[in-house]
Amino acid sequence: MANPLSTDHILITDEAGIRTIRMNRPDKKNALTQAMYDTMAAALDDAGRNDAVRVVVFAGVPGAFSAGNDLQDFLTMALSPENLARPVRDFLPALAICPKPMVAAVSGVAVGIGTTMLFHCDHVVASSDATFSTPFASLGLLPEAASSLLGPRVMGHARAFELLVMGRPCSAAQAKEAGLVNAVVAPGDVDAVAMKAARDIAALPTGAVTIARKLLRGEPDEVLARIDKENVLFAERLRSSEARQAFEAFFSRKK
Ligand code: COA
Repeated sequence: MANPLSTDHILITDEAGIRTIRMNRPDKKNALTQAMYDTMAAALDDAGRNDAVRVVVFAGVPGAFSAGNDLQDFLTMALSPENLARPVRDFLPALAICPKPMVAAVSGVAVGIGTTMLFHCDHVVASSDATFSTPFASLGLLPEAASSLLGPRVMGHARAFELLVMGRPCSAAQAKEAGLVNAVVAPGDVDAVAMKAARDIAALPTGAVTIARKLLRGEPDEVLARIDKENVLFAERLRSSEARQAFEAFFSRKK
């Protein structure tokens, strides 16, 4: 059932206790605009309060989970006094405090926040052609969404450094080996396998799942504090000429 929070770029549906948040801006490889962050934050906040939602599923379009933050928006933010815009600052804690189990169905590119949001998910299904990359340093930026804390926890320091600092892309198979991904499946099967996992979770007693998940994740204070710290440093980096030049270079690249 379509949810009234749904927009053209973020399709939200609720069915049998499962809320699907589908990023849907295929012409831009699901690069996330401020409006898209706002809608996703609202969908997560509402999911947290709504007893009818037992599991949240993040999905994209074939070939693109998300190309990360819209670089045109980053360029605008870099030049604005507000800097790191409010919708991003709202979305990150919404991810960190959402009390419902989160499943991700990743096809194709998962760049920047498209990868770091997965550290907040509880079960990740990837297509065999999925690639995970966080080119923060080459953009003059820093890891965000508490990935500087959660990345080393999930993957170990060496692999997290290679991904989050060196910016080396990671294949679906490597992401599975590193512990970021649960299952690698054929590209056409990603959504179905992720939905099956979501249904399996939704079928379990909700109270038990909620408490167990909270125990596994721990109190969110440390994660929220890291998001705040990263945001301050990230905003400084956005203002840097290194970052501005990298954004401009992306849009003036020859294809
Ligand atoms: N912000 C804004 N627009 C983006 C974008 C982003 N993050 N990622 C892709 N796009 C746009 C492209 O500009 C292009 O638009 P156009 O058709 O109007 O020229 C369209 O999406 C398709 O992208 P394209 O680069 O042609 O697709 P590709 O399959 O060759 O490459 C990516 C896909 C994701 C590898 C590549 O687009 C990319 O590197 N994007 C930037 C990712 C990034 O740095 N994100 C920020 C991380 S912090």
